[in-house]
Amino acid sequence: MYIQRILFTLLLMLAFTSVSAQGDPEAGRMKAYTCTGCHGIIDYNNSYPTYHVPRIGGQNSEYLVIALQAYQSGKRKHSTMNLQAESLSKQDIEDIAVYLARHSDSHPLKSSDSNALEGQSKSEICQTCHGATGISTQPIYPNLAGQHRDYLSKALNDYRSGARQDPLMSGFAANLSDDDIEDIVSWYANQAGLTEMKDR
Ligand code: HEC
Ligand code: HEC
Repeated sequence: MYIQRILFTLLLMLAFTSVSAQGDPEAGRMKAYTCTGCHGIIDYNNSYPTYHVPRIGGQNSEYLVIALQAYQSGKRKHSTMNLQAESLSKQDIEDIAVYLARHSDSHPLKSSDSNALEGQSKSEICQTCHGATGISTQPIYPNLAGQHRDYLSKALNDYRSGARQDPLMSGFAANLSDDDIEDIVSWYANQAGLTEMKDR
């Protein structure tokens, strides 16, 4: 009994150290200063192709670490972000992730649109991981609530085409039609959640 309890505690400790981001948000604020040049500007667009730079304020820290590591290793391809991530140390990434996750106020909601209700029912299959309104159930999954609509559809199209690789999402995106994507992203984009990053 006693041994089992010790083992259980050890396992719990291991689980916590391996999944939670161990950053310093104050250090992260300084290190993320250059990132505000794109992620802190409302309606800032990527060019060729044109879509909004994603909102990363209030994103889950563990997903942020995964995303930045994927740009760093080149597993996820985007020339600007590959360059941005290149010079970051492991500690920089942890610090920035914890700082960004701390952003909490959401952007003002846009007026509701008709696709969003269709999207709500079509997104039921996504709920296990991304939650009913796009606030994810586990910190390793990205929040989708309040994300820019065009960025969300770009991401889903990239999973569908194979331009962005993920064993889980490739499968889910493969089953979506263009209409499904349009409806689902309307639903998530209209929920309260992510925000532009701010220097705070
Ligand atoms: C020149 C503009 C620019 C700068 C500067 C920039 N980013 Fe980005 N970032 C982008 C664009 C565009 C994307 C979307 C790329 C894609 O489609 O994969 C992106 C994507 C991301 C993502 C993935 C978001 C998601 O939901 O998966 C993270 C995380 C991120 N950036 C963090 C940072 C951090 C941290 C910095 C500063 C060290 C930074 N970015 C600097 C333009 C920029
Ligand atoms: C089993 C869990 C799971 C389910 C179910 C799931 N996803 Fe995901 N989703 C993930 C993971 C993990 C990622 C991050 C993958 C990566 O690193 O690229 C992700 C990423 C995404 C992204 C990119 C977010 C960003 O910030 O770049 C979008 C958009 C998305 N999912 C939409 C959906 C939709 C729509 C559905 C339902 C049709 C769905 N997901 C179902 C686990 C899931």
